[in-house]
Amino acid sequence: MINYPEFVLSLGSGFPENGIVTCTSPSNIALVKYWGKRPVQLPENASISFTLDSCKTITILKYQKLDTVSEGFNFELFFEGKPKPDFKPKINSFFERISGYLPFLKHYKFTIETSNTFPHSSGIASSASGMSALAFCLMQIEREINPGITDETFIKKTSFLARLGSGSACRSLEGPITVWGDHQHIEGSSDAYAIQFPHKIHSNFNNYQDTILLVDKGEKQVSSTVGHDLMHGHPFANKRFEQASDNIIKLKEVLISGNLDAFVEIVESEALTLHAMMMTSLPYFILMKPNTLSVINKVWQYRKDIGSKLCFTLDAGANVHLLYPEAEKNEVLDFINNELVVYCQNGQYICDKIGLGAKIL
Ligand code: DP6
Repeated sequence: MINYPEFVLSLGSGFPENGIVTCTSPSNIALVKYWGKRPVQLPENASISFTLDSCKTITILKYQKLDTVSEGFNFELFFEGKPKPDFKPKINSFFERISGYLPFLKHYKFTIETSNTFPHSSGIASSASGMSALAFCLMQIEREINPGITDETFIKKTSFLARLGSGSACRSLEGPITVWGDHQHIEGSSDAYAIQFPHKIHSNFNNYQDTILLVDKGEKQVSSTVGHDLMHGHPFANKRFEQASDNIIKLKEVLISGNLDAFVEIVESEALTLHAMMMTSLPYFILMKPNTLSVINKVWQYRKDIGSKLCFTLDAGANVHLLYPEAEKNEVLDFINNELVVYCQNGQYICDKIGLGAKIL
């Protein structure tokens, strides 16, 4: 179904015979969380995130024009050099959702070769970087067919397509901070795609650091998709959506003013509320592990002891993202090495920071 005719490709110079594009797109970490959606992939509340820098997916897309248009979608998929049949259904339904907007899809045989810079099955969500990288590659083909597409439409449509693959993926294409979801106080915001935070960001957030503690690298017991669904009929859903909306207003002011104490409070409250929603749904579930709680308590103690602006956030898993200003980098890394590494599986953590989004390689 075509709900957004403005994003349907208007055919230009014909279809290229074949080609190859390589793109990279990062993961992102939400500050105000997206949890709860309505069909198709539309968020119940606006969310806002830091785009990451080094945690990313690299995707090579090869395309060869077919002699006859295929019935279904014709693609092969390789992850880290090996065929990956279990990823295919997700890509197939992604193609189904977007083919009305990219009518060339059934005219090609694709080979998708993808890999991540972060360790395999680290518990870091790869759908945001993976889907945004694939959407960005596909849009390079669109640009060949329709070279007149403006940069503005290009990036909006890429985010729009990525959203149809995975909601949070639409926030990965640009940086350093993006907003997804229609919100009265964020000019230009939309449920259909993410936009760059439309204000000057305070220098306190320059090179803001995100160190990801790999507390538990196991498979999640409950997928994000199931978790989102459990917000339907959730007793606290409406209050939660209202709260998220209020937090967007507060965070907007904080990102402009640079008030880091207020930043810490909003971000940690959002993380805990996300997990509280999981704990109070039916069925209920807990994704935090004992070590997640140990880290949180250590962070609170550290902040109290030395007046640091270090704070944590969580996504739908047990790993902890530690967010802090660049100015505190050395002290916080000492703290992590001395006191937090014991809570990480195999002592592993990943140092990342705020980044700028997808790129062609
Ligand atoms: C907790 O984007 O993974 O990370 O739209 O079903 O693919 P789907 O879900 P997904 O959900 C992300 C949830 C979250 C919060 C966030 O990133 O805002």
